[in-house]
Amino acid sequence: MFGGSVILLVLCTVSVYGDHWKSVLPWQVKTTLLQLSDQFNIDSVRGDPIPIYRQDLANDYVAYWYIRINHDEYLILSSGRETGDYKLVIQGSSPSLIEDLDKAASEKKTQCVKYFMVTPTPDVNLACEDNKNRMIFADNKDALAKAGYSTLSKLWENQRQGVEREHIWEKSLLTKFQNDTYFRVLEQGDGHKIVVGDSKNVNILVMNDGTITEDEEQARLCQVLGICQPEDNTRVNPESFQKTKYGQVFVNLNVPRTPKPIRGFYLTLSTSDKGETKGQQISIDTRRRVKRQATTGPWTEYSIDDEILFPDYRQHDINCDDKCCAVGCGPVAWAMILGYYDRRSHDKPSTYTIGSQGLFRCSPDATNGSNICKAPAYTTDQVKQLTEYLHDVMGTFCLTGQGATTQGSMKKFEDYFIPRQLTGSPNVTVETSGIASFVGIYDDGIRDSGLAFLRAKWPVVVGIRVDGIFSQHFPVATKYRSRSSKECTKSLWGSTKCTTSTEYEMYLHMGWGGSSNGWKPAKMFMAAVAWY
Ligand SMILES: *[C@@H]1O[C@H](CO)[C@@H](O)[C@H](O)[C@H]1NC(C)=O
Ligand SMILES: *[C@@H]1O[C@H](CO)[C@@H](O)[C@H](O)[C@H]1NC(C)=O
Ligand SMILES: *[C@@H]1O[C@H](CO)[C@@H](O)[C@H](O)[C@H]1NC(C)=O
Repeated sequence: MFGGSVILLVLCTVSVYGDHWKSVLPWQVKTTLLQLSDQFNIDSVRGDPIPIYRQDLANDYVAYWYIRINHDEYLILSSGRETGDYKLVIQGSSPSLIEDLDKAASEKKTQCVKYFMVTPTPDVNLACEDNKNRMIFADNKDALAKAGYSTLSKLWENQRQGVEREHIWEKSLLTKFQNDTYFRVLEQGDGHKIVVGDSKNVNILVMNDGTITEDEEQARLCQVLGICQPEDNTRVNPESFQKTKYGQVFVNLNVPRTPKPIRGFYLTLSTSDKGETKGQQISIDTRRRVKRQATTGPWTEYSIDDEILFPDYRQHDINCDDKCCAVGCGPVAWAMILGYYDRRSHDKPSTYTIGSQGLFRCSPDATNGSNICKAPAYTTDQVKQLTEYLHDVMGTFCLTGQGATTQGSMKKFEDYFIPRQLTGSPNVTVETSGIASFVGIYDDGIRDSGLAFLRAKWPVVVGIRVDGIFSQHFPVATKYRSRSSKECTKSLWGSTKCTTSTEYEMYLHMGWGGSSNGWKPAKMFMAAVAWY
């Protein structure tokens, strides 16, 4: 298209200044990035974002963006509610999924030209197409390649329903055809950041509620918020713009705490980005505070203690004379948890006592002998033998070449754990919902139990689906964070209906030697802890 090439020329000029990403990323994606920036300490955005497509969506619709940040980290963010997916798909560090895929392509002596998201998060599978229209999967995942289109479209449909139910995408954001009256609610003391578009202008307009003339209301709004331009109070004063470390200009809307309640406002903040009007409708409610915590604010994060000591082991193949079979993700997950307890007990006995030092011992399979040996941070021969031992303890069986650990057999890990953990009252608790868990149906109740274990600072083995409905994986969650927001819709006759939505994200150690570790939406069908 001719128009496209003209725009590209303009972008090239901008890229000289190293912020090409600003003109490439859609406003919604820049908004998500801004919302994540504090929690992730985003210092820089590196290189150009890479578009990722979906085979079940329009051919030319960029559904996700791969964005490199800081020194060696990356994010994959959804473009918008059209994807039916969560805003954050994954945040991790190098080697990234894209790098793995490029490597797989180069091993096949070809090159990726177009990337695709194949399965919904928290499982994240990317594929790419080369210039001969051949599909390439990382790690030669042929099982995934064979997964039927109808299976995958069912997974995407489930994801879309969950995302709608959880109100993940704000309706109060102005999009092209916005004509609903949704408002993001801000209360006293709340702060809310809004991306300034490429026009470098932001309009601020009070919405008439019919009781007073707009001019007076506009002046009152400006007085409360203190961000309007003196000569034109329908514009945000550029002097009040702020900039993130990575270079995103934004308006920070702070609702002051007032001793006396004041009448609220409805307002629209709008900006122009790539020739389109973007912005947000906001309602400022200073009258009362139903809940004590801020409705819009920073993420609340919980982590196990000394998370840095948590090891990253990887699966390996066993019984290769017969038929190769991965040792199973269940045994690897439990081995990492044993390793974590053992490591912290060695490094900080005054905090954790020496009671966990026997969880990883000196014999070749780590199950026996002196307690003096400390579990390593990465897979060694000893770790491999330990996971094989646990594989036998738990009765892991082979299913389509992947070690499948049934959720009932998770409980059998107790047989290993109880005699070796010398303090506390060691036991294994497994939260599942029977047959629904067996087929991998995500459950909010199980997620809430999993998050409660994390709040109590125990690492949690979580069950997630991979590569299709019947294939499951058991990574370990060591952190989670959440953040809530309130949105109301206002009808013509003034009645309002509000929903509070909460985003939950968990940090997973995947059991692939550190590869693909990262933050993902918190979805699970099983949560298990070995605690004491
Ligand atoms: C928005 O307005 C258009 C035109 O007035 C109308 O056709 C459409 O149904 C409206 N959309 C919603 C979601 O109300
Ligand atoms: C390991 O334990 C078994 C019994 O469970 C024992 O027979 C064996 O001698 C032990 N090996 C070592 C090296 O302690
Ligand atoms: C399991 O361990 C936890 C943590 O020590 C303890 O609170 C709980 O009571 C134990 N449960 C059983 C059944 O022993």
